[in-house]
Amino acid sequence: MTDQDIKKGLAGVVVDTTKVSKVVQETNSLTYRGYPVQELAANCSFEEVAYLIWHGELPTPEQLAEFTARERGQRAIDQKLIDLILSLPTDCHPMHVVQTAAAYLGAVDPEADVEGPEANLAKAERMYAQLPTIVAVDHRRRHGLDPVAPTEDLGYAANFFKMVFDEVPAEEVVRCFDVSMILYAEHSFNASTFTARVITSTTSDMYSAVAGAIGALKGPLHGGANEAVMAMLEEVGTADKASAWIDKALENKEKIMGFGHRVYKNGDSRVPTMRKAFEDMVEAKGATDLLDLYNAFEEDFVGRKGIYPNLDYPSGPAYHLMGFDTPQFTPIFVMARITGWTAHIMEQQASNALIRPLSAYDGEEQRSVPTKSD
Ligand code: SDX
Repeated sequence: MTDQDIKKGLAGVVVDTTKVSKVVQETNSLTYRGYPVQELAANCSFEEVAYLIWHGELPTPEQLAEFTARERGQRAIDQKLIDLILSLPTDCHPMHVVQTAAAYLGAVDPEADVEGPEANLAKAERMYAQLPTIVAVDHRRRHGLDPVAPTEDLGYAANFFKMVFDEVPAEEVVRCFDVSMILYAEHSFNASTFTARVITSTTSDMYSAVAGAIGALKGPLHGGANEAVMAMLEEVGTADKASAWIDKALENKEKIMGFGHRVYKNGDSRVPTMRKAFEDMVEAKGATDLLDLYNAFEEDFVGRKGIYPNLDYPSGPAYHLMGFDTPQFTPIFVMARITGWTAHIMEQQASNALIRPLSAYDGEEQRSVPTKSD
């Protein structure tokens, strides 16, 4: 095997087929089950897109009503899980809380190891319904606040705001959040989804695969970038300081968070839609200084390196304007990507092969263990 055969990071390597989504590098396009994500964001709710990702078709009104009734009826989490979340250090990373909760759900589900489409769709729907409640409990405990119970009277996004802030914001804010969930829901064989497929390929269970995927998403090179973008913009402070900040970061050979992508090399297809949602938030909150900083930073870095923003660049400041704490941004990403992860888990199960690549050994040549003299 020569060095040329090795594809570090599996860059450019096609390892399987999928029907869930299609990412086209040349045209920077993304479709979920054949529908352009921009059209889904403009015309659908996250609930409809979740149904599409799992079932391959948009729901009829009757199917949507059945699905949302099941989701609303499963939002509550048991007191033992609430107590477990409250028992964790309040300064631990929220992704460790979400990962603990996912493992807990597996531990208490008597059907955790029951396979098959029906059993796994039920697990997927349960995690989809309960992750917002888990994230909200963790968000509030860090502010010394008691949990706010989920309500069946509100849609998915509005209920999440109610559980986090004990109030529902203006419709345009709720809509911006819903758009972000649609954009974050699925993205073919990204690192966390591929992690879920690797775990699934050993015929382990869905909860174990999701817990592994959460671990992968936490990393700043992947889902953790949205948090890192907000921290970066707060460190820069104002638009006039962007250029000097970038100078220093590049001198230190740092990666600029929210920019670049393994697949999209001419821009992330989701950015224009998320940027519009961010701009709507700027208007709603009068945050023109943040928008000035956002634009100045992007213009400077893209101008220098020709590396374009990815979805995490607009989503970080948008979540900030919605009022969420920065460390909660990636748990919110989990709430959306649970749909894509579980769709890929079910797809892997339906046509499985153990994922086990090769490695090229470049260590010591074979040698003998020295015999010990008496
Ligand atoms: C997500 O895969 C998905 O689909 C992921 C995702 C999804 O929906 O699941 O889209 C979500 O994870 C988006 C990406 C979020 N991560 C970040 O924003 C972190 C910052 N980005 C970089 O770390 C980087 O762009 C990656 C990791 C995202 C992609 O890197 P690649 O494809 O491995 O490219 P590379 O690191 O080989 O970069 C090529 C060159 C390098 O320069 P040289 O070493 O060749 O001189 O471009 C440079 C890199 O240094 N480069 C950057 C950069 N991104 C690439 N330099 C500075 N800042 C950056 N952000």
